[in-house]
Amino acid sequence: STVYILNGPNLNLLGTREPDIYGSETLDDIAGKLHDQAAALDIEIEMRQSNHEGHLCDWLHEAQGVEAKAVILNAGALTHTSLALYDAIRAIRVPVIEVHLSNPHAREAYRHKSFVAMAASGTIAGFGAVGYEMALDAAARL
Ligand code: DQA
Repeated sequence: STVYILNGPNLNLLGTREPDIYGSETLDDIAGKLHDQAAALDIEIEMRQSNHEGHLCDWLHEAQGVEAKAVILNAGALTHTSLALYDAIRAIRVPVIEVHLSNPHAREAYRHKSFVAMAASGTIAGFGAVGYEMALDAAARL
């Protein structure tokens, strides 16, 4: 079965984007590790990134369409604004695991609200890129 790993706005710039906050690994570096981990867990992964809210909605629907095992979602700043993503997560039966590299609760007040968290099965935040590996482990064990 397949786990979708969906990444939102500005995460294509990981590695150079505010490395003090988000680390120096690129999204490709993270994808490489996740592919190795997935092979060891005997699951497929589908890793994508978009700067566009609608693409993320479409991919959540697609995950339902293919009956994905889980979705790991780092929605970037859309986490804090997107009622559309909240509705999309509510609209599907596939469990969604929210991931953040940083810990939004230890940051600015405007990052404390998460529309994703209100609909997700759970959240992993503040562990940098390792958080994706923790989420994939969690997905495999659901
Ligand atoms: C983020 C946290 C968000 O607040 C921020 O807008 C991001 C990245 C993270 O992974 O820490 O773009 O989702």
